[in-house]
Amino acid sequence: MTDRTIGYIVGSISSTSINRRLAKALERLAPAGTTLVEIPIADLPFYSQDHDADFPQVARDFKQAIADVDGVIIVTPEYSRSIPGVLKNALDWAARPYGQGAFDGKPTALIGTSGSAIGTATAQQHLKAIMSHLNAPTMGQPEGYVQSQPGVFTDSGEVTNDETAEFLVGYLTAFNALVDRYAKTPAAV
Ligand SMILES: Cc1cc2nc3c(=O)[nH]c(=O)nc-3n(C[C@H](O)[C@H](O)[C@H](O)COP(=O)(O)O)c2cc1C
Repeated sequence: MTDRTIGYIVGSISSTSINRRLAKALERLAPAGTTLVEIPIADLPFYSQDHDADFPQVARDFKQAIADVDGVIIVTPEYSRSIPGVLKNALDWAARPYGQGAFDGKPTALIGTSGSAIGTATAQQHLKAIMSHLNAPTMGQPEGYVQSQPGVFTDSGEVTNDETAEFLVGYLTAFNALVDRYAKTPAAV
């Protein structure tokens, strides 16, 4: 069996985030041999090019955390039909200094939840454009547009709806396949 470590970034810093609950659900549902770890973004300061000559430790740690995992899942809300500013800020840190982008070649998957019937689809279209520019191979299918009904995800990551749980397991399995395809070293079976 192949062991994989997948990082996840939550694009919300809300203390009651439904996307964080979704991330916890993914953590719980991860297939055997796959470990999900959070890559936190809340402590990153605002990015400015002034930092390029000497990145602060928190930003170095953030980029190193991306380097250390086999793939990254971005779990994000939709804000004003795009991604939240905190997530864009984190991606700008990841992109710089020029030529040293942390997502270059890093398998990436996008997912998000909102009460809306289109479940963050518009935000993810914007995010796909950004990740394409950062040269991250991004999972096309299945698309992670999750409409949240109240109570579907508990704080500890339980999923109270079987159909949603089944979808998330399939989503993680598909992402593992993408991760393996892009693995630098062929996976031992
Ligand atoms: C500034 C702001 C903008 C929002 N814009 C959208 C939107 O464009 N589409 C949407 O489905 N929900 C939108 N919402 C509602 C969010 O989906 C909802 O607040 C959700 O709980 C945010 O995710 P989180 O709980 O993980 O932080 C917006 C919320 C805020 C605070």
